[in-house]
Amino acid sequence: MANTILIGAQWGDEGKGKIIDVLTESADLVVRYQGGNNAGHTVELPSGKYILHLVPSGILRPGCRCVIGNGVVVDPVALVEELQGLERVGIDVAGRFFISDRAHMVLPYHKQLDELREDLKGVGKIGTTKRGIGPAYGDKAARVGIRMGDLLNPALFRARLKDRLVEINDIFRAHGWEEISDRKLADEMLEATESLLPMITDTVAIVQKALSDRSGILLEGAQGTLLDIDMGTYPFVTSSNTTSAGACSGAGLPPHRIDDVIGVMKAYTTRVGEGPFPTEDQDLSAHFHGMGREFGATTGRPRRCGWLDSVALRFSSQVNGLDRIALTNLDGLDTLETIKIATCYEVNGRRIDQLPADIDTLRQCVPVYEELPGWGEDTSGCKESNTLPVNARAYLARIEEITGARVTIVSVGPRRDQTMFR
Ligand code: IMP
Repeated sequence: MANTILIGAQWGDEGKGKIIDVLTESADLVVRYQGGNNAGHTVELPSGKYILHLVPSGILRPGCRCVIGNGVVVDPVALVEELQGLERVGIDVAGRFFISDRAHMVLPYHKQLDELREDLKGVGKIGTTKRGIGPAYGDKAARVGIRMGDLLNPALFRARLKDRLVEINDIFRAHGWEEISDRKLADEMLEATESLLPMITDTVAIVQKALSDRSGILLEGAQGTLLDIDMGTYPFVTSSNTTSAGACSGAGLPPHRIDDVIGVMKAYTTRVGEGPFPTEDQDLSAHFHGMGREFGATTGRPRRCGWLDSVALRFSSQVNGLDRIALTNLDGLDTLETIKIATCYEVNGRRIDQLPADIDTLRQCVPVYEELPGWGEDTSGCKESNTLPVNARAYLARIEEITGARVTIVSVGPRRDQTMFR
């Protein structure tokens, strides 16, 4: 198998979990390389529905090895709970699940700071998942973070935590919060994470070995391109590089060893949290929520829904270097008479087809739509892409034209057998 990066081409929640699961049939190693347990990758198998937050989706395939790479921020307590949940349903991770010693930890104070910053922002809040992601990456960049490898040396872990808590407790005092005892927190963390210790290792070596053995590596992106800290709708973004470039630094492999970049996109657009979303449409949101679709896998929040956006998709295809597309949720459009696609934006009396970096400008952008006829047929039982309704196939062709990438996978439902290859 090729070394493949799979990323979200929109604002996250594109259905990456399902596509990764389908692709892991032929992958030896699946690596998460950014984000943390803000992600929620849903996989539906005959044995049940699984929502994975930190553990790569490949864990559901027996024999597939999985890595949490150095670019991920790990809430170790949440990880222990997730692993216990997998064990309870009979998924054995022993000997095939590894955590990078370089990955930074999300500690309880990061979650408190995430909440505090959101509260202080008030109406201007980002709408984070409150999992402590921003503060943990902030510590990493400020070089005051604590890493998973530090757990292997308790004395060092205690010393680092003690150092870090000097500034954290200053902040807590200023807000009238109870100070954190470094000894108590260190004791709690060391006890809670004991089961993880055998899994913490130099995962770069695992990735490099897979490269030299020519085993296929699947790099599992989380969130989506427009939430990228550099390329997204800043500041309404997450704190990591969600685009394909993040895979190399977050897993420890060179760009020239990447063979294939797959962008997962929904047949429409959704976003959770705040921030500009030019093609958002209240009626479409009501339509999907009425069908029981589009509620967040991590927070349960209703997702904001809208039409496809060529401006955003072209940008996504360019910055990720998409080789191909996995299109999901096509069946969500089955009952619509007309389907809209934004071809460009109108702003200040001008038409533009580039995504503005400035969110105030983006907020003023009014999408210019083209309309395509719907297909009015249930596609959820389609097994071959050439049996899709003609108008659905025309929609796929239009997406290929916009992105310049072939749609090679089409998903019409959550199950593995609701997937077509083209
Ligand atoms: P954070 O990653 O929790 O800091 O949240 C920052 C922004 O990214 C918020 O708008 C979140 O709703 C969004 N976000 C974070 N993770 C995901 C995800 O997995 N899917 C979709 N949106 C996400």
